[in-house]
Amino acid sequence: MADARAGGLGRAVIFLGPPGAGKGTQAKQIAKHYSVPHLSTGDMFRELVAQDTPLGKRAKPIMDRGDLVPDDIVLEMVAERVSRPDTARGFVLDGFPRTLPQAEKLDEILQARSWGQPLVVHFVVDAAQLVRRLTGRRICSVGGEIYNIYDQPPKVEGRCDNDGGQLIHRADDREEVIVERLAAYREQTRPLVDYYRSQGVLVDVDGMQPPAAVTAKVLEILERGQKAHSSPAPSPAAANQMSQRYER
Ligand code: AP5
Repeated sequence: MADARAGGLGRAVIFLGPPGAGKGTQAKQIAKHYSVPHLSTGDMFRELVAQDTPLGKRAKPIMDRGDLVPDDIVLEMVAERVSRPDTARGFVLDGFPRTLPQAEKLDEILQARSWGQPLVVHFVVDAAQLVRRLTGRRICSVGGEIYNIYDQPPKVEGRCDNDGGQLIHRADDREEVIVERLAAYREQTRPLVDYYRSQGVLVDVDGMQPPAAVTAKVLEILERGQKAHSSPAPSPAAANQMSQRYER
């Protein structure tokens, strides 16, 4: 295990799945384990909004209604971020790519660095569970720790266990916005499952398991490394069953 960590991930790992699937929760653990950056485009945009930058001002109304920020803005931001030296040993992408043009641009970026294809971890979760997770999510305003008032509550209500920071409820975690975010996922991001599956680089993970069990599964997939890269796609029936789950 230590050897694998010393080399980082050595590749781009994409966490793909609908809002609330657990991408951020897992990305924090995995990035820490391998000492590589966790690149969350949602977090990047929220930071720009908090700083009230011109880009943040453009993104805010779009995020507030649950739509996707236009590709050109996202791509410029990501291209700059992945060009920084701290990405040399690999990185975990959380919330990117989310459209086909974004995926194609990522392919170009990885090719330009002479990296192979990304490894895509696809989290599969029932729709009812997604809504419960998102409405119950609370995030530490200091360290970004993720809680859930139903399933993973803090020891003291409204306060982070780690640093005592105030826990906040994301503006887009209201039910009416969640509906729009799930629709945006279905229409614009879900096609990426087929895009990556057809390339043989996507692995389905049952995101309904408790967080620690999901982390163990993802670590197992990453440790398998090259093997996971070339793992055969599941049968069409099994793949279809997994893919439909979050839509029920
Ligand atoms: P973003 O921040 O990326 O939001 P998202 O994709 O909707 O994903 P979430 O952060 O809501 O969910 P998650 O899967 O990370 O779940 P989490 O681990 O927190 O994007 C926000 C907005 O920014 C977008 O709507 C868009 O406008 C814009 N944007 C961002 N990237 C973009 C892009 N590339 N292109 C265009 N626009 C972009 O977990 C959720 C809850 O569940 C937590 O409470 C957690 O404690 C709980 N939980 C997690 N795992 C488990 C488990 N296994 N069991 C039980 N509970 C669990």
